[in-house]
Parts: sequence; structure tokens; C-alpha cells
Amino acid sequence: MAFKSLGVIGSGAIAAPMLEAVARNMPKPMERLSLLTLPAVADGARALVERCGPRIANHAEVFTDADAFLSQRYDLVVECAGHAAVKAYGTKVLGSGTDLLVVSIGSLTDDTLRNALRDAAEASGARMILCSGAIGGIDLLSAARLSGIESITYTSRKAPRAWKGTPAEKLIDLDHVTAETVFYEGTARAAARDYPQNANSAATIAIASVGLDNVNVRLIADPAAPGNVHEFKLTSACADMEIRIVGKPSPDNPKTSMSTAYTVAREIINRMSPIAI
Ligand SMILES: NC(=O)c1ccc[n+]([C@@H]2O[C@H](COP(=O)([O-])OP(=O)(O)OC[C@H]3O[C@@H](n4cnc5c(N)ncnc54)[C@H](O)[C@@H]3O)[C@@H](O)[C@H]2O)c1
Repeated sequence: MAFKSLGVIGSGAIAAPMLEAVARNMPKPMERLSLLTLPAVADGARALVERCGPRIANHAEVFTDADAFLSQRYDLVVECAGHAAVKAYGTKVLGSGTDLLVVSIGSLTDDTLRNALRDAAEASGARMILCSGAIGGIDLLSAARLSGIESITYTSRKAPRAWKGTPAEKLIDLDHVTAETVFYEGTARAAARDYPQNANSAATIAIASVGLDNVNVRLIADPAAPGNVHEFKLTSACADMEIRIVGKPSPDNPKTSMSTAYTVAREIINRMSPIAI
């Protein structure tokens, strides 16, 4: 079935390079692209859609009214906006029978929300897809779960400025960190809840493996961090695995690894292509 219509929620550090990448890779424009954002940044969103919309779709439009956005019919909606947006729109999108690609995976640490999203998807036949985001190797990690996981740990290491505006500010003096400092050690659930813009990867790894309460997570402020460094170590019955990813921080939001935008673009392009990889 042809992919005709894409809905995007958010117009920030993930959505902008994601749309540019999709625009560069469109074989031909689809019918419709709709983007929902907040009124305060709508001008920037309109400029973005004017720039890449025509290569993506014959009709491209920016919405600041969620009801108007949600009244359209989509083949896929992608959320690139934050935990609050998953909560506000997730069940409506899935309940309407539309697949939803979620990047704010940390929102799924709220069991009530996660169950509501699952129920909405089950009732309509739609699917919620958890974007791999800044993390690689989720395919093998999630397959290893089926063989039996013995242990898994995850560490996120970012420059001190990337932890600004988070509870880390109260735990350490981010302006004067001179050496790597572990400021959080605990479950993925609490990490993703307390660091919603930073710890989505912790939640992704946990949901793909042994669950939100069973992965040991460390968050580190490190002035020598070469980027947003994600490391995880797994031992399982079918494979042992050590992954280290040095994500390049988005110039618009240092909390976000640029690669996240391209993992969203990949999912969209795969859905439109006869061969998916
Ligand atoms: N899975 C991952 O690996 C990963 C990586 C980075 C970020 N994230 C998640 O992605 C989210 C977005 O990241 P970003 O760097 O693009 O953030 P950003 O702050 O640059 O952009 C967020 C965008 O969402 C829009 N927005 C926010 N609330 C909205 C709402 N209720 N309705 C419509 N639009 C809304 C804002 O206007 C803005 O355009 C983060 O909050 C984080 O939770 C996930």
C-alpha cells in the first residue's frame, strides 16, 4: 500500500534535520505532510516546512491546533516533541488506527500511560514503534532477550553543559566539574523520569531487555566527553555485546544526539521503500 501521508509532532532539534534528510531521500513527493508544533516556534516551523516540504509532499502544512492536526488521516505519525506530547496525543493517534513512532521513550516509564498506549493500539490494530534513537544495537539486544539475558549495564556520559536544566544541577556544580563525575546510579525508570530530555536511551535499552527496574544506569558529567557517549554491556545466552556510541550533540540542543534525527528519517524512508534496511 502506498505511503501517502506523514504527521510530525515537534519542529526542534530532531524534527528539523529529520525532515531535511527525508526530503533529500524522497523518490517522489507523497500527498501530505502535516507538522504540529507550539505557537511560540511556529514561524521557525513554517520556514522549515517551506524549505523541505515541497520535496516531501504535494501539500505541506504547519498546525498549532492539535485537534486540527489530529483530524487528518496519516499513514504514520512521528513524535519528536517530548514526554508531554506522547501523553497528550499518543492514545488519540493510536486509537485512530494510525501507527505512531515515539522518540520520547522515557515517557513509557509511566506505566499508566504505557498501558493506555498499548490498549489503544490493540483496540485499533495500529502499532506503536519505539525509535532506536541515539542507541545502536537494539536489534540484537532485543533478540538476545529471547535467549535469556544474564546482565546488562548502561552508562551515559555527556559534557556538563548537556546536563544543565536537569536535577544534576542540584547534585553537582556543573560549571566547575573538572573530572568525570557520576551523579546518578540507579534504575532506568528513575533515570528516564528525572532526566526526560537526556535518559531516553536508558529507557530504550531497558524496555528492549530486562525491564525498566532491572537495568543498572549510570549518568556521568565529563568535561572530556568527546560527545554524547552511550555505552552498554550485555551478557546473554546467545551473545555478549559491548557497544560504545559517540553521538554528536545537536547544535540546537546539546542534550540530543544528532543521530536520533536520522533514525527517525530511516524509519520513515524504510516505510516508503520496497526494501527496508
Ligand atoms: N530516543 C532518543 O534517543 C532520544 C534522543 C534525544 C531526544 N529524545 C526525545 O525527543 C524529544 C525532542 O527532542 P528535541 O531535541 O527535538 O527537542 P527540542 O526541544 O529541540 O524540540 C522539541 C519540539 O517539540 C515541540 N513541542 C513540545 N511540546 C509540544 C506539544 N505538546 N505539541 C506540539 N509540539 C510540541 C516544540 O515546539 C519543539 O519544536 C526530547 O524531549 C526527548 O524526550 C529522544
